[in-house]
Amino acid sequence: MNSLPSATSLQEAVARVRSAHAFTPEVALVLGSGLGPFADTLTDSHSIPYTQIPGMPQALVVGHAGRLVLGRCGDKRVVAMQGRVHLYEGHTPEQVVFGTRLMLLLGARTLIVTNAAGGIGAKLQPGDLMLIEDHLNLSGHNCLVGHNDESLGPRFPDMSEIYDRSLLELATRCAQRLGFDCVRGVYAGMLGPSYETPAEIRMLRTLGAHAVGMSTVLETIAARHMGARCLGVSCITNLAAGLSSTQLSHGEVQETARASETRFKALLRAVIEELPA
Ligand code: HPA
Repeated sequence: MNSLPSATSLQEAVARVRSAHAFTPEVALVLGSGLGPFADTLTDSHSIPYTQIPGMPQALVVGHAGRLVLGRCGDKRVVAMQGRVHLYEGHTPEQVVFGTRLMLLLGARTLIVTNAAGGIGAKLQPGDLMLIEDHLNLSGHNCLVGHNDESLGPRFPDMSEIYDRSLLELATRCAQRLGFDCVRGVYAGMLGPSYETPAEIRMLRTLGAHAVGMSTVLETIAARHMGARCLGVSCITNLAAGLSSTQLSHGEVQETARASETRFKALLRAVIEELPA
C-alpha cells in the first residue's frame, strides 16, 4: 500500500519552486526519453535541479536530465519536467506522480505528457508521433491507492475522457498544418524495465493497444484526479517486440527520439501557442 499522500512535501516543493522563481505556469509538460531538449527552447527560462526540490524523486535514467524548467513558449507560461522517474526504478506510484502534482499545484491546468514508445499498430513506424486517445494502465499500480487527499481530487475520479478531446483535435490540426499526420491510438503502460516479449505484444494488440511504454499512465491519472486537461504524445521509437528482426535497446529508443526532435518540438510549440488562454 502507498504511504499517505505527501501533502506536506508537495507544499514544501511548491514553496521552494516559488521562492526560486515567482511564476504561475498555465501549461505543464512531462518530457520523456530523448524528448527533453524541448525545454531548452523555452524563453526567459529558469531551471531548478530536482535535487533542490524537497520530495522530488531523482531522475537517473540516461536521457532524463532531472530539472524543472520554467519559461515561456510564445505567450504561454510553461513549466516542464526535463526527465521523469519510473516505477521500474523502484519509485513508489506517489513518487512517480510527484512532479506532475507539483506542476499542477504551481497553477498549470493543462498537462502535456510525452514519451518514447514501441509501435504496435500497423500504421505506426519509428519516427511517427502518436496522439494518445486513451490508455491501458497495465503497470499493476495506481497512484490513487491509499488515503485520498480531497484537496487534490475526489476518491473515485472519472477517467472516461482522460485525454481531452479538444486537445486531441487541436494537436491533430496543428500536425496537419505542419505538414504531417499524427495517428491517434491507445497507449499501454507497462511496468518494465524489461521490454515486452512478442507474446505480450500480441496480447496488447488483442487488448486494443497501438503503442507500448513504461510511463505516462500514472501521471495522467494523477492529473485527471486534479481536474487538469491532458494531452499525450508518444514518439514511436521502435517497432514493438516481435514486429521487426532487430533487438530492442534504449540506445535505439534515444536515437530515434532525437531524430524526431524537429517535428516533436514544432508540434509541441504549435499546440502550446494555440491553447486557449
Ligand atoms: N516497449 C516499452 N517501452 C518502450 C518501448 C517498447 O517497445 N520503446 C520505447 N519505450
